[in-house]
Amino acid sequence: MIKIAPSILAANFAKLGEEVKEVEAAGAELIHIDVMDGHFVPNISFGSIVLDAIRPLTSLPLDVHLMIENPDQYIEQFAKAGADYITVHVEACRHLHRTVQLIRSYGVKPGVVLNPHTPIETIQHVLEDIDMVLFMTVNPGFGGQKFIASVVPKIAALSKMIKERGLAIDIEIDGGITAETIVPCAEAGANIFVAGSAIYNQQDRTAALQQIKAAGEA
Ligand code: DX5
Ligand code: ZN
Repeated sequence: MIKIAPSILAANFAKLGEEVKEVEAAGAELIHIDVMDGHFVPNISFGSIVLDAIRPLTSLPLDVHLMIENPDQYIEQFAKAGADYITVHVEACRHLHRTVQLIRSYGVKPGVVLNPHTPIETIQHVLEDIDMVLFMTVNPGFGGQKFIASVVPKIAALSKMIKERGLAIDIEIDGGITAETIVPCAEAGANIFVAGSAIYNQQDRTAALQQIKAAGEA
């Protein structure tokens, strides 16, 4: 089963509530929330007050992607604001195992994110402790970038590792996802797909979302 997680980074912030409700009605399975601090990535987005605002408006899980330094310092805040998943970058965590346990201690599902150049070996010893691996298929920081195809073999390798170890971990892909780029990622074993511009920059968001999902399921 393929799940689509629209990224609100590409939404119209002047009417964010409606933008979230629209993709929920269109068949989205999660809402992807991109948090950027201007240090880990060269851009600033927003903090937990945005979760406070949208949490009452949707019953979908909130998938919080922290592109920030020192994530431990902010996990409680995002958990209390209603995050269902919190993913942290392996590149930003000095004590990854501790961070993952901290997320879990708030009843939130922990996930780990890998930048395009980061090998999967960096997370092999925390796989038993996490619910999701998120592969970046762009360099994080901005929506609307071009998909980096060299990440696909990493997805296949992790998918194999997860199966061999009998684990149930979601594999999520983020960056440049369209009805074309979803295909090799789904074939490689990914099951959750973030899409920002490919949904929110379209006139008919429902058609766009359904087209991407259908391409991934084909
Ligand atoms: C990039 C973010 C992505 C981004 C995806 O740093 O993590 O979630 O919003 O946007 P698109 O789908 O336009 O590449
Ligand atoms: Zn993201």
